[in-house]
Amino acid sequence: MNKVGLVGWRGMVGSVLMQRMVEEGDFEHIEPLYFSTSAVGGKAPLLAGREAGSLHDAMSIDSLKQMDIVVTCQGGDYTKEVFPRLRAAGWNGHWIDAASTLRMKDDAVIILDPVNREVIDAALANGGRNWIGGNCTVSLMLMGLGGLFRQDLVEWVSAMTYQAASGAGAQNMRELLLQMGVLHDAVKSELADPASAILDIDRKVAETMRSADFPTSNFRHTALAGSVIPWIDASVEHGQSKEEWKGGAECNKILGRPPFRSPGSIPVDGLCVRVGAMRCHSQGLTIKLKRDVPLDEVNAIIAQGNEWVKVVANEREISERELTPAAVTGSLSVPVGRLHKLAMGGEYLGAFTVGDQLLWGAAEPLRRMLRVLID
Ligand code: HSE
Repeated sequence: MNKVGLVGWRGMVGSVLMQRMVEEGDFEHIEPLYFSTSAVGGKAPLLAGREAGSLHDAMSIDSLKQMDIVVTCQGGDYTKEVFPRLRAAGWNGHWIDAASTLRMKDDAVIILDPVNREVIDAALANGGRNWIGGNCTVSLMLMGLGGLFRQDLVEWVSAMTYQAASGAGAQNMRELLLQMGVLHDAVKSELADPASAILDIDRKVAETMRSADFPTSNFRHTALAGSVIPWIDASVEHGQSKEEWKGGAECNKILGRPPFRSPGSIPVDGLCVRVGAMRCHSQGLTIKLKRDVPLDEVNAIIAQGNEWVKVVANEREISERELTPAAVTGSLSVPVGRLHKLAMGGEYLGAFTVGDQLLWGAAEPLRRMLRVLID
């Protein structure tokens, strides 16, 4: 059995990964060894009823070298520190990583097997050893639209995103809820009185979210509850945020296309915005098709993209019920709806998609890559 070193299993993405591995019976096929940066020698978790001894040192190259496969959700700093030293020590095992550090390296594949299994298989056949999970927004967009890309029908995509707090981290999810609570507390008595004036309530809410003691330290000193934040991650070039840059760069790499902005690549661009959802990213998409494909054909192609995508009829009730973070959270389903031709012409398709940022956006592609390697 493959010795699989698990690093960062205690964090948010790591915990979701462990839960999914238990659900899918993955532990029956591996010898798990748990690594830690903070509690070396402590007891390993008992997952899937398997005793796994004690926690190994995640900084020890000698210990990691014993692994056939390392799966890490420990974060980019860990990857930066440990990965080059491990390879320099001659380790030839498979490295599966959720962090972005290695994503754009030539010898790394961005893994999303329902969409790019051929790219993964070709890299495996060529001795590939580095398997990196993609940016959540990109992975979720491709899970939704994979069918259209596979049929080479996409000329370009503009994605306007509505990204959940979870993408910014566990502390941000807590802070979002805290902000909601503080806003509610500020107007609790007025809300209880049906005769109170809504504009008075609104004024108090605005004052509260602008006040110096509103809890905002995780959101870089701005409110998310009752507001939106139109910038995600660092600033890069062309006026883009890094999150927006990843859309083009990673999408093309996942699909095995030439690098973004070079001939043969697909332009993917848009604005990435944080909204007050917990763990589902949504995206409003404008897709320029290469030809005027009839809408029923478009629906069928999208629906056949993979077994998790689900086309939601472009109708009000079902869209309100099924095409929302509230409906999708915690599930692997990737609904795509609002599908209709836009006023710009028959080649312009409008769509809206929602997906769980911690599942397909983070943990699930890693888990599935592990299965690709061990099955
Ligand atoms: N960068 C993403 C976000 C999450 O901030 O929502 C990680 O892919």
